[in-house]
Amino acid sequence: MNYRHHFHAGNFADVMKHVLLVRLVSAMQRKDKGFLYLDTHAGRGSYDLGDASRGDTLERAPEWPDGVGRLWNHMPELEITRDYLKIVRDYDAERGNTEATPRFYPGSPQIVGRMMREQDRMLLSERQTDECDELDIAMGRQPRCSVQARDGFGSLRATLPPPEKRALVLIDPPFESPDEFKAIAKALKDGLRRLPRGVFAIWYPITQRARVNGFFREIQGVDLPPTVAVELTIAGEDVEIKMRGCGLLIVNPPWQFEEEVASDLNELKERLAQAPGGSSHFDWLVPEQ
Ligand SMILES: C[S@@+](CC[C@H](N)C(=O)[O-])C[C@H]1O[C@@H](n2cnc3c(N)ncnc32)[C@H](O)[C@@H]1O
Repeated sequence: MNYRHHFHAGNFADVMKHVLLVRLVSAMQRKDKGFLYLDTHAGRGSYDLGDASRGDTLERAPEWPDGVGRLWNHMPELEITRDYLKIVRDYDAERGNTEATPRFYPGSPQIVGRMMREQDRMLLSERQTDECDELDIAMGRQPRCSVQARDGFGSLRATLPPPEKRALVLIDPPFESPDEFKAIAKALKDGLRRLPRGVFAIWYPITQRARVNGFFREIQGVDLPPTVAVELTIAGEDVEIKMRGCGLLIVNPPWQFEEEVASDLNELKERLAQAPGGSSHFDWLVPEQ
């Protein structure tokens, strides 16, 4: 496997995923009862954006300037994404950055780690051992956090249902394998059998629309509870751009999640557009009752 998330850290897709993740965690925390956060594909937890332009062999254009870079200095007027921005800006400052541009970007484990309450717990799986070693270092002092160097789908099967009976599961694979959508559908089926009311958030890229449609057909074979696909595109279909957008499929979304995040998505659509034709929308695969 060649995938290295540090080339992509802080890009538009990370921003969209992490803004929604902050919303999901806040929604889980409306109840006092603790929950398990399971990050099946956790990455290294912390990224130095200075490394994003150094490829394995060649220089490459960093992606964060068109992602978190576009929001960085607009915190006062960005009412909606403020919770997310506060987390990433505080993290960057605590790591010692004093420049006007971002340098240190937290991955999903750090973002959720910073929101955890005493009654919450997290379990992080990362299959690449060197990335997992970095993750261990990044999360070293985090209480109630366990890091596992293993396949994320395997840890989903091993962990659900958790004793808390409440879980938020982030499934965020690299999509390097052509079978990824199949593996996700299988894991989701398993996860829902083990924890029917668990909240599952699955990130996916929008490259060729047909592949995503195939994924949805595959997912429809699962007996789904309320499920919504939240999508953001940064350019129209006719624009030549490798990844035109991304989505987060949310199974068992918090009540009225669409109303809650609609303005986040609008704001992101305006700030992150790279060409005409970008959009944001919600498709309910199974509507709320
Ligand atoms: C998109 S990155 C994760 C980013 C992270 N969730 C975040 O938002 O900060 C995907 C990660 O999954 C890891 N990975 C790939 N296959 C895996 C598997 N089967 N189980 C667990 N991790 C895997 C990759 O090494 C990579 O670090």
